[in-house]
Amino acid sequence: MNKKSSPLVLVSHALPDGWLQLLEERCELIIGPPEGNQLVEKLTAKLPFAEGLFTLLTIKVDEDLLDKAPNLKVVSNMAVGYDNIDIDACTRRSLPVGNTPGVLTEGTADLTIAIMLAAARRLIEAHQDAREGRWKTWSPTGWLGKDLSGAKLGIVGMGKIGTAVAKRAKGFGMEILFSDPNSNQDLIDQLDAKPMELDELLEEADFVTLHVPLTTETRHMIDIKALQLMKPNALLINTSRGPVIDQLALTQALKEGKIGGAALDVTDPEPLPADNELYSLKNCLIVPHIGSATWNTRRKMAERACQNLLAGLEGIKLPYCVNPEIYEA
Ligand code: DGY
Repeated sequence: MNKKSSPLVLVSHALPDGWLQLLEERCELIIGPPEGNQLVEKLTAKLPFAEGLFTLLTIKVDEDLLDKAPNLKVVSNMAVGYDNIDIDACTRRSLPVGNTPGVLTEGTADLTIAIMLAAARRLIEAHQDAREGRWKTWSPTGWLGKDLSGAKLGIVGMGKIGTAVAKRAKGFGMEILFSDPNSNQDLIDQLDAKPMELDELLEEADFVTLHVPLTTETRHMIDIKALQLMKPNALLINTSRGPVIDQLALTQALKEGKIGGAALDVTDPEPLPADNELYSLKNCLIVPHIGSATWNTRRKMAERACQNLLAGLEGIKLPYCVNPEIYEA
C-alpha cells in the first residue's frame, strides 16, 4: 500500500509516541483521546468514510456502529479478548477482526501470581496497617495468610495464559488441577497437572484462577452454585473478564465467608464504581484491569494490532484473525 491511497483509519484512543508508527506511515489517521469508554463524536462522524477501525477493549463494536461504517475493511482490537466486538455481525459482513494473542501471556500470568500472592498474604491490608500506625509489635498471629507451597491451584481454562500461570505456580510448589475441554496430554505430563470437571476442581482447589474468554457459555460461570462448591477458605482469582463471575453472588459469598477471599483484575462493570460494596470488603483485592500493563507488553499489543490493520487494508489475511472463516467463503 502506498501513501497515495491513504486509507482513512479511525484509532479509538491516542497511544504513546511511536506505537502507531506502522499506520502513520501509510494511512490517514484520526485519533481519539487517550482514555474513555466510547468512540468520541469526532470519530463517529467519520465512520461512513473509514476503511480501518483500531479499537481498545472498552469500545463496543456492534451492529449499530457497523451499519454506520459501510466501507470498513478491518476491525483491529488491541487486546487478546474480543467480547467487545459482535463477531457474528462482522463475519456476516465478511469483515475480518484481529486481536493480539501471545504477547500478553507472560504479563498477565505475572499479574495473576502477583494478586494471588497479595491476597494470600494479605499484603494490601498489612501495608495499610503499617502505614496507618496499627503495626504495634511482631505478633505470632499478626496478618496470617495462606501458603502457596503445597496448596492446590485450580486453573479454569488451560490456554496460553492458564498454562503460563501453571508453570509459575509449579515454581511455588503448588499442585496443579485444571478444567478445560481441550486439555492436552503433553501439557498434563509436563506440568504434572490433573484434568477434572469444573465442579470437582471447585471442590478440591485452595486457589481457583479463571482464564477463559467471555462468551455466552462462560458468562456467570462462577455463580452462587459454583461459589458454594468452593472450600470456605479458598481464594478466587480473576484476570480474564469480570462477567465470568456473577459479582453479586461473589459479594454475598465474601460477606458471608462462604469463600476465603477474591483477587480481581477484572470486574463487572469496568470501571467498578468507587461506591461498590466489594471495595469495602477486606477479603477482596481489586486492581483496575492491569494484567497486560507493562510497557513491553502494551507496545507489542499495539504493534500486533497495527499489523492486523494493515493486512486488512491490503485485503490479505490478518496475521491474528478471530474470524478466519470469512476467508473460506
Ligand atoms: C486483553 O487483551 O484481552 C486483556 O484483557 C488486556 O489486558
